[in-house]
Amino acid sequence: MSLPAMPACKIAIILGTRPEIIKMSPIIRACEALGVDYFILHTGQHYSHEMDRAFFEELELPEPKYNLDVGSGTHADQTGRIMAGIETVLMEEKPEIVLVQGDTNTVLAGALAATKLQIRVGHVEAGLRSFDRTMPEEINRVVADHLSYHLFAPTETARQNLLLEGVEDTRICVTGNTIVDAVFQNQELSKKKATILKDLGLKPGEYFLVTSHRQENVDSPETLRSIITGLAAIHREYSRPIIFPMHPRTRKTVEQFAIPLDGITVIEPVGFLDFLQLESSACLVLTDSGGVQEETCILGVPCVTLRENTERPETIEVGSNLLASTVAGEVLASVRQMLSRPRTWKNPYGDGMAGRLIISLCNGMAGGLTVTVGTTLPLHNDYSLIR
Ligand code: UD1
Ligand code: UDP
Repeated sequence: MSLPAMPACKIAIILGTRPEIIKMSPIIRACEALGVDYFILHTGQHYSHEMDRAFFEELELPEPKYNLDVGSGTHADQTGRIMAGIETVLMEEKPEIVLVQGDTNTVLAGALAATKLQIRVGHVEAGLRSFDRTMPEEINRVVADHLSYHLFAPTETARQNLLLEGVEDTRICVTGNTIVDAVFQNQELSKKKATILKDLGLKPGEYFLVTSHRQENVDSPETLRSIITGLAAIHREYSRPIIFPMHPRTRKTVEQFAIPLDGITVIEPVGFLDFLQLESSACLVLTDSGGVQEETCILGVPCVTLRENTERPETIEVGSNLLASTVAGEVLASVRQMLSRPRTWKNPYGDGMAGRLIISLCNGMAGGLTVTVGTTLPLHNDYSLIR
């Protein structure tokens, strides 16, 4: 089937952190494949090579046209500087649509700056809710959703959350999550290129993988100690390596409070191809990351979430994930339970064509439709066209 011609529509893709680069990559590829007029604005919220450049290089993404280099700061300071920088670029570039993804300060600032310039905002991964306003991410996603013109909800649950908050149905489209596209587009390459298992001397199915960086978990030395006590208990019970690619935020607390990491193999954050290999061959993943809860569900690997709640309830419902809290005993009990479950769940996040659908919707090809996951899309189901 050939694709219909696109009306001209200039799109600004705003991103700033590791997960935004990964989850926007299928959208960037769709823009390239469909000849869309677009540019990338990087806020510089993440800037360390292993949190930023590494992903542009490995995923072969085009260079951002702008990088605001805002770096780290308090929430208001960082958000304010991002807003000011984005405003200047948008006034110059005058795009028709601004796309933001997820729930970071970059997303909040992008949505606010664009809306005040009366530019339409499209929110990718709209409608997620933890119903916990102590999380900075929950505040960011609620505000971004209510400012957005196009709400690209990954699942029906996300759509219902938006409807319950009074968002107009016609603005919402259930697209699936672009993380499925990113996993599908890079899985084969990961199998061919990733070397991390060999580098670390790991055997498939015989190690645990951990990530933790949530503000409420790792800024508190008590909570981080409790998580690490739980990991040490898992190491004692299963005698398997525990691999922890450590986010810089977490490393800061570990170093400041000299938290011992006995039995845990701490490594630098790794690239996406190596991370996909680590995830897909782990016997189980422990995490407080949003994206990692989704990826384990897609890859068929059991997950234990180091939180009290999750804005990814689909993973709990299908049975790929269990909420453990950060209490050491609960973490160990959840690991035992998840290891005994069959891995027969189905991926609830779509068919891997979300990026193309979102770009098509932005260009009016499917405007006004509420498309549900599983709907046959007017697109080629051929990933080689996208990579
Ligand atoms: C941010 C997002 C979070 C997302 C995460 C993805 C907000 C409020 N939080 O959290 O939702 O899950 O990104 O990883 O937007 N640092 C570095 N190098 C970097 C980036 C950060 O060393 O490239 C260190 C700095 O000490 C910084 C700290 O990490 O102060 C936190 O960075 P920040 O971007 O504020 O928040 P994240 O915890 O990364
Ligand atoms: N990730 C990675 N290398 C790592 C850890 C994570 O490439 O060492 C990827 C992971 O595959 C996922 C994303 O980073 O796609 C998740 O980012 P993060 O946990 O920082 O943020 P969140 O999803 O919680 O917002």
